[in-house]
Amino acid sequence: MGSTRGFGLHSSVSILSCMYLYLSLSASTLASPSLQVGFYQSTCPSAEEIVRKAVNKAVSYNPGLAAGIIRMHFHDCFVRGCDASVLLKSTPGNPSELEHPANNPSLRGFEVIEEAKAEIEAVCPSTVSCADIVAFAARDVAYKLGKIQYEVPAGRRDGRFSSEKEIRGNLPPPIFNAQQLVDAFARKGLSADEMVTLSGAHSIGVSHCSSFSNRLYSFNATHPQDPSMDPNYAAFLRTKCPPPSPPQRTNIAADPTVVLDSVTPYRLDKKYFVELRNHRGLLTSDQALTNSHLTSAMVLDNAKQGSAWADKFAKAMVRMGSIEVLTGSQGEIRKLCSRVN
Ligand code: HEM
Ligand SMILES: *[C@@H]1O[C@H](CO)[C@@H](O)[C@H](O)[C@H]1NC(C)=O
Repeated sequence: MGSTRGFGLHSSVSILSCMYLYLSLSASTLASPSLQVGFYQSTCPSAEEIVRKAVNKAVSYNPGLAAGIIRMHFHDCFVRGCDASVLLKSTPGNPSELEHPANNPSLRGFEVIEEAKAEIEAVCPSTVSCADIVAFAARDVAYKLGKIQYEVPAGRRDGRFSSEKEIRGNLPPPIFNAQQLVDAFARKGLSADEMVTLSGAHSIGVSHCSSFSNRLYSFNATHPQDPSMDPNYAAFLRTKCPPPSPPQRTNIAADPTVVLDSVTPYRLDKKYFVELRNHRGLLTSDQALTNSHLTSAMVLDNAKQGSAWADKFAKAMVRMGSIEVLTGSQGEIRKLCSRVN
């Protein structure tokens, strides 16, 4: 399994030429026989409970952190596998994943993971990986905001490297169309249906205006506004978001946020898919799911069958959580999630 790791670094090599090989290796990685439910049962029996309490406490205080945590798991798993590389701070000469605009300044919830980690270290030092803590925390969020319940196979080890350069080619940007999204998830061994299902996480949380304001003001030469967006929704969004130029992505004051699902922004539910069908998807990559024949039937199924979507979401989270994991004696168990030992 260690041999599949190198393929996580594909962004600079020819993706197409090794796609077939890559996909078959990813699929075997995803089977991941080495992750186990109850992995810490004997070595740290309170680990999952500590994470759950930390998540519940933080989310009761600030519900937005829930969205941050579930997104953190996605951003971790898609870059170098689920190895907590997303948590590493930059070191001199090496800007980490955190520095990339996909993570900075929008990714949030780090304090929840660090708090859970500190409490776990106090009872079972150097035993529970940060990567597993993120996976447990994402599951606890799915339960707290969506009553979606699943067990998390664990035993991930923490990576020792993180680079801003590895975001590109691994994390899909919000301007992607359906085909590009399908391909991006396929490179991680996930199906089109899993991609659509997991996009349902956009049923909670927010987006900065800069991630979608081209759809409001500067779509193309003939259409200032994206014609696939409900005009009333676009008009509402223009009251929230200033015109995109000059882009000041790092200036939070100039880049407000808007909820991704305006019907039930604090519920992890199927309303996101219903809204896509009403032309009220916020990101290009959201609306693309219902505009494309590749994925529109999946959106319809999810919009109709909330409980079937929730079941698929649980399974897809487990599959996403097994992407290119380090296990056994690979990597390390970090003492602090923000830096290697
Ligand atoms: C399908 C491809 C995806 C794209 C292109 C995408 C893109 C984005 C973007 C641009 C934002 C807003 C960032 C900002 O401007 O603040 C966002 C937010 C978010 N994403 Fe995704 N995402 C995708 C898939 C996922 C997946 C698979 C998950 C989790 C399973 C996820 C969970 C979230 C959550 C919860 C938020 C809200 C974060 C917060 O409120 O802090 N996304 N996503
Ligand atoms: C602008 O977008 C619309 C809708 O997608 C399309 O019909 C039109 O051809 C585009 N115009 C240009 C100049 O690209």
